[in-house]
Amino acid sequence: MNKSYYLETYGCQMNVADSELIEGMLSQEGYTPIREMSKADAIFVNTCAIREHAEGKVHSRLGLFNKVKRDNPGVIIGVLGCMAQNLKDELLVNKPYVDIILGPDAYRKLPDYLRRNEKKNHIVDTKLSRFEVYDDLFPSRKQGINAWVSIMRGCDKFCTFCIVPFTRGRERSRGIDSIIAEVSQAVSDGFVEITLLGQNVNSYQYDSVGFPKLLEAVAAVEGVHRIRYTSPHPQDVTEELLDVMASHESICNSIHFPLQSGSDRILKRMNRTYTKEHFNHQVDMMREKIPHIGISTDIIVGFPGETETDFQDTLDVASQVQFDSAFTFKYSARPYTKAVEYEDQISEEEKQDRLERLILLQREHTLEKNKKTIGSIQSVLIEKESKKSTSQWAGRTDSNKWVIFPKENAAIKETVPVQILNTSGISLQGKIVHNH
Ligand code: SAH
Ligand code: SF4
Ligand code: F3S
Repeated sequence: MNKSYYLETYGCQMNVADSELIEGMLSQEGYTPIREMSKADAIFVNTCAIREHAEGKVHSRLGLFNKVKRDNPGVIIGVLGCMAQNLKDELLVNKPYVDIILGPDAYRKLPDYLRRNEKKNHIVDTKLSRFEVYDDLFPSRKQGINAWVSIMRGCDKFCTFCIVPFTRGRERSRGIDSIIAEVSQAVSDGFVEITLLGQNVNSYQYDSVGFPKLLEAVAAVEGVHRIRYTSPHPQDVTEELLDVMASHESICNSIHFPLQSGSDRILKRMNRTYTKEHFNHQVDMMREKIPHIGISTDIIVGFPGETETDFQDTLDVASQVQFDSAFTFKYSARPYTKAVEYEDQISEEEKQDRLERLILLQREHTLEKNKKTIGSIQSVLIEKESKKSTSQWAGRTDSNKWVIFPKENAAIKETVPVQILNTSGISLQGKIVHNH
């Protein structure tokens, strides 16, 4: 009998990619996706544990799923992903309505567990693996522009604030042949952009193939218009990598380059393995080799022991670099991590105050960087209709900025030259240039 499932995904792109793998497996098992959770035979949530707030959201969703289950006692509730570790202890006490808990390395067993659940036992599998890369499973993709391709899993960096090494386990890379096979498949399925994914994407190493070589191999696949990757660790951004980026048209001129803090003292306490000088040097090298490169970042404010002077260092580096955009976070104490034990935690008010100051500064930088593009002609891949107007397209520049422009005769998936006319802050407005 055909069964249905409802799936929600939280967290980073790795989780989005994992959900596509899970959907591929569910479809092989005869499950089809539906929109109304109240009618589903199974409800899944793929969870994120990166900050307390992320977990809070999942807890409130679980409350809702519990209500659905009261009306429909047969529904299977499955919690997947990075919160599995944390949830499994709580589950038996507080959340008896959850049937299945699977950590990020246990998805392969989902179909089997679903069949077994007919016996109505709780199933918990949070074992992490040194090897699992889901090599042979093909994801079920939808939207048709960008295909996420996971190339490595886990993280061995152990930044002292971060839970990922505990939720996703050891770093391991996937063989190049299966990556290239997946990229080729995505291209023949009509995807024009490939984004290579990993928590430390540039730590990729499989036999003698490192990340720059892998990028070259992906660029050599016919039909790939654009290649992006995320997230690289500053420690492993090498000259070789930048040279490969600079010498391939299809590899986008943009990089996500997570600073976290601009204070050497805090960076050291975070176990980030670079100094602000090294970071600035790498930014200079990027701009020298790839002049119009777009640089985005992640910054944490209020890490334990962060003084006003440390925070000023962060503002200084941000001003010096002038990031095109930044994801900014208040430090959130996470279980298992080293920083949670530090005694000099910063008050919520202080964190909030620093966050607001950082956001204001970054807003100026983003505006400045965007203003500098006015008048230029950018190559834009059309991705979707603008949310604001049905007569306009939305697409991204090579440097990862969103541009809105009149549709004219262009179509989704085409790459068109767009002259930038204006910016409202975050996005750009323009018009297609003809006979360019
Ligand atoms: N592997 C990536 C980061 C993945 S997590 C990297 O090394 O850059 C995404 C971002 O969440 C991190 O860059 C960091 O800025 C933020 N983050 C991670 N743990 C956090 C915590 N405990 N509190 C606040 N922000 C955190
Ligand atoms: Fe977390 Fe650091 Fe690993 Fe990134 S590199 S996932 S921040 S431990
Ligand atoms: Fe969250 Fe796990 Fe990604 S903790 S950020 S979903 S690796």
